Amino acid sequence: MNNLFRKKDISQLLNKTNTVQLPKTLGAFDLIMLGVGAIVGTGIFILPGTVSATHSGPAIVFSFIIAAIVCALAGMCYSEFSSSVPVTGSAYTYGYIVFGEIVAWFVGWALVLEYGLASASVATGWSSYFVNLVEGLGIHIPAALAGPFDPTNGTYINLPAIFIVLIISFLLTLGMQESTRINKIMVFVKVGVILLFILVGVFYVEPANWQPFTPFGINGVFTGAALVFFAYLGFDAVSSAAEEVKNPQRNLPIGIIGSLLICTLLYVFVSLVLTGIVSYTDLNVTDPVSFAMQIAGQNWVSGIISLGAVFGMMTVILVMIYGGTRLLYALGRDGLLPKVMQELNPKHQTPVKNTWFFGILIAICAGLVPLGKLAELVNMGTLIAFMVVSIGVIFLRKNKQIPSDGFKVPLYPVIPILSFLACLFLISQLSVDTWIACGLWFIVGMVFYFLYGRTHSTMNE
Ligand code: ALA
Repeated sequence: MNNLFRKKDISQLLNKTNTVQLPKTLGAFDLIMLGVGAIVGTGIFILPGTVSATHSGPAIVFSFIIAAIVCALAGMCYSEFSSSVPVTGSAYTYGYIVFGEIVAWFVGWALVLEYGLASASVATGWSSYFVNLVEGLGIHIPAALAGPFDPTNGTYINLPAIFIVLIISFLLTLGMQESTRINKIMVFVKVGVILLFILVGVFYVEPANWQPFTPFGINGVFTGAALVFFAYLGFDAVSSAAEEVKNPQRNLPIGIIGSLLICTLLYVFVSLVLTGIVSYTDLNVTDPVSFAMQIAGQNWVSGIISLGAVFGMMTVILVMIYGGTRLLYALGRDGLLPKVMQELNPKHQTPVKNTWFFGILIAICAGLVPLGKLAELVNMGTLIAFMVVSIGVIFLRKNKQIPSDGFKVPLYPVIPILSFLACLFLISQLSVDTWIACGLWFIVGMVFYFLYGRTHSTMNE
């Protein structure tokens, strides 16, 4: 029993004896870029339309604010952890330090699900925008080659989705510096098109469209918050970069909180302008942001926005796959997964083998599996990890080995407890199917742990 809860020693982790070192190349600005790159994607280009039409109405702006508050609470807990223990692996490593191996494995397994499924579902979203965009340029991609394996609906394989996942995996194998440079360009493009939408759209807002403001009542606003939570996912990936960050005590909290703040502002303004231009009842479309611009008669802006969405989603895929590979790296280093996961390529200093392993799995998933409902599972996996991190802060503070100069959650212990409860509340808003699917995933994880991880863990040495 004790074995299951064996913990990592913090000072040993910090000294990083016997570990392979990743080069430190990232500063605060890189992290904010990485955060915004990971966060702003399908969430902003699709959810404000579908969720306002079906759950929240114009009050979706409150759903976004509620989800932002939950993320900010968890984000502060993440910041304290990542600045105290700047080691790769994010919530997984934090779980290992404060709760022990089995909880860590549980969190790591949930995060593999988050990063893998999120990148696969964003890749399929990317594919639909991409197909529409090239269609506009006169290039037709047959529907049979742009959907999951579903012969009854006439689709067999989603080639664009596979293509984008493999291209991005290749980019990641080249090294972090190359990837962050390209990420930065793409982040500028997508923030640019979102600002363009807000600045042009604000002139077409009809305040009458905001009436009634809460057509589905307060419950609609809360369910909406659990759904648009997806739009904020990715900020936790910033903490996966911990070992590659210069001055992590200062830069990690700036990266996490800064990127959340920027995204909240963008989401609030986009949803206000969007529901102001078009009545929420008409917004249940796959491309609401460009649709609103068409309604406003601004077709050229609409085209630019579609192009920006294609770039925007690419950065989300990039950071999600990145987060996943660093997690596999940490799991491999600790022996819970085969050692090959932690091998670094001598030339690029990146875990090339695990990147291809993860990339190919995601490509298969994005290319063949109908993902639809599975996207809610992403929220579930993430919320579980957030809960562990939130409550973990309380145990972290009690640990005397922690250097005292890093970021500290204010109003301790109120904020960690609030954060835990807020995540629990959002989980309670998700559907029963999602609960069941998540349960099955954890059963598979437990079987793997007892058959492999427990006996191969480096903690046995
Ligand atoms: N936050 C990411 C998105 O909205 C997952 O696409």
